[in-house]
Amino acid sequence: MKKLIVASHNPKKLKELKEILAPLGYELIGAGEANLPDVEETEDTFIGNATLKVKSAFNHTNTPSIADDSGFCVDALKGAPGVYSARYEGGYQRVLDEIKHLDQQEDRTALFYCVISYIDAEGHQHNFEGKTEGYIPFNAKGDKGFAYDPIFMPKDHKSTFAEMTAEKKHKLSHRGKALQKFIQHLKKEA
Ligand code: IMP
Repeated sequence: MKKLIVASHNPKKLKELKEILAPLGYELIGAGEANLPDVEETEDTFIGNATLKVKSAFNHTNTPSIADDSGFCVDALKGAPGVYSARYEGGYQRVLDEIKHLDQQEDRTALFYCVISYIDAEGHQHNFEGKTEGYIPFNAKGDKGFAYDPIFMPKDHKSTFAEMTAEKKHKLSHRGKALQKFIQHLKKEA
């Protein structure tokens, strides 16, 4: 079975990546299992940080690798927390507090963004993007998913990501969309 390193130390993100990639028929190896070092995310763009993580994984393992860099971008906060989503002290409650003066749904727009960077067996890097637009409700709802999921309702849906089954979230999510592009690429490569 072909091996693919999934360069994430975040257990919830890793679980999603593995769920979506399960049908591929690859042996998926997480960052912990592959003994990858932690990579400091020193870039200020998603693509910059995904590149740092995937290059480190490939250099350590000499095996095809993917890394995901993703974040939650709130229009009224000029795109924050964005690339700093994982380090935004206060998490989703802080976001709700920061936009509490906005009482119209159309002013509470946000998006999730994801880039998947892949380095193939020849050492060539390929990047795949996914984006999901939506709204921030007035209160957090749901207990599935992780991080900002309870405060994100994708456009044209009445539930937050945290109220959806994993399958439904993956169909709509930034990560699901980026991974579908990656899967199409792998099919061409095969
Ligand atoms: P990264 O590990 O630097 O890419 O950090 C991504 C961060 O963005 C996560 O730790 C979450 O805070 C946020 N994030 C990304 N994708 C999702 C998602 O699907 N749901 C909720 N939060 C997410």
